Amino acid sequence: MLDLKEIIANEIQKVTNVETIYDYIEVPANKEMGDFSLPCFKLAKELKKAPQIIATEIKDKLNIPDNIVLETKVVNGYLNFYLNPMLIAKTVLEEFEDKKEKYGSSDIGKGQTVVIDYSSPNIAKPFHIGHLRSTVIGNSLHNIYKFLGYNVVGINHLGDYGTQFGKLIEGYKRWGSEYDIEHNPIDELTKIYIRINNLCKEDESVLEACRNNFKKLEDGDEYCTKLWQKFRDLSLKEFQKVYDLLDVHFDSSNGEAFYSDKMPEIVQILEKTGKLVESEGARVINLDEYNIPPCIIEKTNGSTTYATRDLAAIMYRARTYNYDKALYVTSYEQNLHFKQVFETAKLLGIDKKYTDGLEHIPFGMVQLKTGKMSTREGNIIKLEELLNEAITRASKIIEEKNSNLENKEEVAKKVGIGAVIFNDLYNSRIKDEIFDWDIMLNFNGETGPYLQYMYVRTNSVLEKANKVPNIQNVKIELLKDNASIYLIKEMYNFENIVKQSAEKNEPYIISRYLINIAKAFSSFYNDNKIICDDVDIQNARVYLTYCTNVILKTGASLLGIQMPNKM
Ligand code: ARG
Repeated sequence: MLDLKEIIANEIQKVTNVETIYDYIEVPANKEMGDFSLPCFKLAKELKKAPQIIATEIKDKLNIPDNIVLETKVVNGYLNFYLNPMLIAKTVLEEFEDKKEKYGSSDIGKGQTVVIDYSSPNIAKPFHIGHLRSTVIGNSLHNIYKFLGYNVVGINHLGDYGTQFGKLIEGYKRWGSEYDIEHNPIDELTKIYIRINNLCKEDESVLEACRNNFKKLEDGDEYCTKLWQKFRDLSLKEFQKVYDLLDVHFDSSNGEAFYSDKMPEIVQILEKTGKLVESEGARVINLDEYNIPPCIIEKTNGSTTYATRDLAAIMYRARTYNYDKALYVTSYEQNLHFKQVFETAKLLGIDKKYTDGLEHIPFGMVQLKTGKMSTREGNIIKLEELLNEAITRASKIIEEKNSNLENKEEVAKKVGIGAVIFNDLYNSRIKDEIFDWDIMLNFNGETGPYLQYMYVRTNSVLEKANKVPNIQNVKIELLKDNASIYLIKEMYNFENIVKQSAEKNEPYIISRYLINIAKAFSSFYNDNKIICDDVDIQNARVYLTYCTNVILKTGASLLGIQMPNKM
């Protein structure tokens, strides 16, 4: 897309001979300050003059035709540019015509690979609301990077390894027939786990048997492996229900167990560095120089740790995917874990590219507005129930608002799930999230359903218009009212917004943007009659509606939200 900032930067460069102008130019948050702004205090040092004087001098020297810039203003050391809105409109519509559904995409990621580790629930344990956040954020990042041309590998790093499996095997051996793990695996396995744990506390020999089971599992014992596989398959089948509801897919579900035979190499490499030291019976990498506790590689009993498996995974992913970036989406509770692992990874002797590419993408906690949700034991919410509740609630609202709607069930699913996803992605991820049904399902709030509702409105306009005009029949100069111009300017930003959200790994930048687009469309719709007697005006406005329609749908799909055609 034509880079309007570059046009301005080139002009300024001609009169200042400063080469870094492009990087200095900002987009003012307040639209009244223009479309672009040059903060001249950044030039004060180089040009040895006061910012205000620099701004005035540049303004006087510039000679930009008014089909590009309508006005420049000096304000407190800033030089503000007001572009000719028709130039922006032309840029947006031509780009749109060229790219259609791909509008906003780019190929900045071409030739680069991003590995994203997300969701990653633990086998035989509940898929909790924190995993939901990881799933939703990771899935969105997956979509965003893809849209930017990256090769993306989505990995579900399942927690399918650890001493708890020794316990589960022992419990199942003793009381398996009492529990219906086929139909309700997570609940039933949790019960077995609690029961065997209690027994372990009473009887040291049971604990010993559990440890022994885990050892056998590691050594590939047939019976233990078979049970482990069964627990894993049943749990995955249950998790799959959530993934199906969310329409989330992974390229790999290699969990922790996958790395069991890859850990000895890691231990060997670390031994060779001479930095693997004994500490209270365990073997650790000391990280004092970073002011963090040591990374434990082998526990007192000789077994490996969560961290060792992550180190083996880094090695494997470097070799297998040759990644440029490797992202880990988990709650901020794992900040320390990833700091330890990432520092220790520098000792693995892999190319610096791989350790530089490691990045933890932490997110905040989910706070439940209690009393409104079906909870079981403590505060653990069953995710499948929660998502189904979202659908039921959405379906009630649809029933009230539009009971004649076709495909009500499908729409309710999109609205309910969309509401949950949007709520998850509406704020900077590090902020704690409030889970409140009334807020997320409010059709007039800044919500998923609101976006869907505005999208549906664009659909009905397009339906009334019968067809989207050919760009040759769109007279751009007819889109000169404030609401149209405002909407077009927002559209111009899409590509940048997507890039920013990838740079910061923050889907919320897209969520907020889509709300802005929806609101801008709402003003445009209220201010202008779209379907009207004047063919030219109608064509221009229908085309703008069409652009809005595509941007809303594309943007929502980047978040992982599906749009209903009607609602
Ligand atoms: N299974 C872990 C948990 O539930 C998350 C795993 C995150 N990924 C990783 N490579 N450590 O907390």
